[in-house]
Amino acid sequence: MRQKIVAGNWKMNKNSEETEDLINELIDKLPTDLETTVIIAPTFVNLASAVDHTEFTHIRVAAQNMHQAEGGAFTGEISADMLKSIGVDIVIIGHSERRAYFHETDALLANKVETALKHDMTVIFCFGEELKDRSTKSHFNIVENQLRDGLFNLPESAWANIVLAYEPVWAIGTGETATPEQAQEMHEFIREIVRKQYGSTIADTVSILYGGSVKPDNAREIFSKPDVDGGLIGGAALKADDFVAIAEAI
Ligand code: 13P
Repeated sequence: MRQKIVAGNWKMNKNSEETEDLINELIDKLPTDLETTVIIAPTFVNLASAVDHTEFTHIRVAAQNMHQAEGGAFTGEISADMLKSIGVDIVIIGHSERRAYFHETDALLANKVETALKHDMTVIFCFGEELKDRSTKSHFNIVENQLRDGLFNLPESAWANIVLAYEPVWAIGTGETATPEQAQEMHEFIREIVRKQYGSTIADTVSILYGGSVKPDNAREIFSKPDVDGGLIGGAALKADDFVAIAEAI
């Protein structure tokens, strides 16, 4: 079954107290009968307390990144085992900010995905074109290459733990959203290339999230598209009312 998912990527926002406050507000405000999977991704330092605070709720906690190595001399880095040991079993990999500012390449990301899966983690794999790619009409090619290089070396069995997140870079934090039609067109394309590579069972069960300036006032229309299974939310995930409204819009 394809899952409906709303995930909040908090990026480098919210200190310890603010994290606790936002989680408490989410617990109060999120309807308990929501069928959508709700995920939050606070910063590394607040993950353990987020796991504690959400223990008896249906909110799940994800990391925003992890290192590909099992451990060792990698100052400042966090391993899959460390995340698992505090109860985090979901990780965002390949966010465009990691690709752009931290020079994470497709090959490195494939490595990270492999490590995360080895530790039975669920990977939210992000990809998406830049504005220049769309203006030169190479956006489909770019997206296909990111998927091929990042994920298409995986065995079929790995796909049960993969969630795809299409995030056009030009729509992230800009207030400019892909139109629901642009999102649907790309999501349908993504599902088709997964189908060609892995067959219909995987293509029809993998969840494909849209990310990029999703707000309460545009979420419903984007989520109504047949190949959009939810969203990866940045700015609007930092305000409980907005995030809850988005989660209820599916
Ligand atoms: P915004 O919702 O702020 O555009 O960010 C999207 C995003 O990058 C989520 O990972």
